[in-house]
Amino acid sequence: MPDPLELPSRPTVRPVAWIALAVSTLAVLLVHLEIAVRRTGVALFSFDSAEYALAGRTLATTGRLATPFAHPAILASIPGPPFPLLVGHPLVPVLDALVFAIGGARPALTLIPAGAAFIAVVVLTAVLARRVSASPWVPWTAAAAVALSPWVLRYAIEGLSELPFVALFMAALILLLDLRERPRPLLLGVALYAQPPGKSVNELKTFYALNCVRCHGHDGSAHSPLGKKLGGLDFTDAKKMAKKVDARLAKTIRKGIFFGVVMPPFKNRLSEEDALLMVTDVIRKVEKGKAIAPSE
Ligand code: HEC
Repeated sequence: MPDPLELPSRPTVRPVAWIALAVSTLAVLLVHLEIAVRRTGVALFSFDSAEYALAGRTLATTGRLATPFAHPAILASIPGPPFPLLVGHPLVPVLDALVFAIGGARPALTLIPAGAAFIAVVVLTAVLARRVSASPWVPWTAAAAVALSPWVLRYAIEGLSELPFVALFMAALILLLDLRERPRPLLLGVALYAQPPGKSVNELKTFYALNCVRCHGHDGSAHSPLGKKLGGLDFTDAKKMAKKVDARLAKTIRKGIFFGVVMPPFKNRLSEEDALLMVTDVIRKVEKGKAIAPSE
């Protein structure tokens, strides 16, 4: 029986064609940068890319992965900047730190990681398309479509994190496609359909700080630091909590209260296991006056 995942024979592509693709992609990027940023005087940084650049500069100068930005919900639980890079991710700050270390902390250098990722995504699109199609035109059409997409170009000129992640993801897909042996279909299935793993207690504490504080308070007591009574249940009220059953509490977290009007449902963002762990290891462990925040 033929292998249903057998790939078509690939069109041959000479190395010079790949180089031409990379160079023309760079040209598209430079033209777009000239028209969209330099001519119009638009700022190089958006909020996100400024945050990456500052974290990158901190890493390049102090060797610490830290950020001067923090979500308002966790401001009260951490003494002050620099904050640990908890809520964000370190990929782009690390890449920015690398170019800063080589070329000095100049804003324009943040375009190098994003620009390189842009070129990588376009070339990898052609590589991937070549793996799955026998037509010699498909790789170049797919690559051109990605290179000229306004959103992809925006990610590139703003130095956002999407493109480095997409480049890594595409490289992983191509590696998996190239595994000729039996595990290939299995691994591809895992890569494409895997359920994300459950959240850790620390991740749940961050989730709490971002999503529950406004009604249940930093310490779970349903009081704001200014003493104002918030609307949610007081988790530090031992008498009330003793009457509650874990499984029911977990169910309420996923379902919300009164069609989401009183408390929003979180079923799309917390699995049943996540919600139960939130009850047993976060909510049941609150202490009055001690903010719920991830431990380092
Ligand atoms: C918009 C405000 C609001 C937000 C946001 C909110 N809650 Fe609630 N929550 C409430 C209210 C109101 C109650 C009911 C208070 C009472 O029973 O006295 C409640 C009750 C609960 C209960 C008790 C349910 C029961 O069966 O008795 C749990 C557990 C709970 N919330 C967890 C959470 C968690 C975890 C989050 C964040 C992921 C969250 N809540 C976010 C308002 C909110």
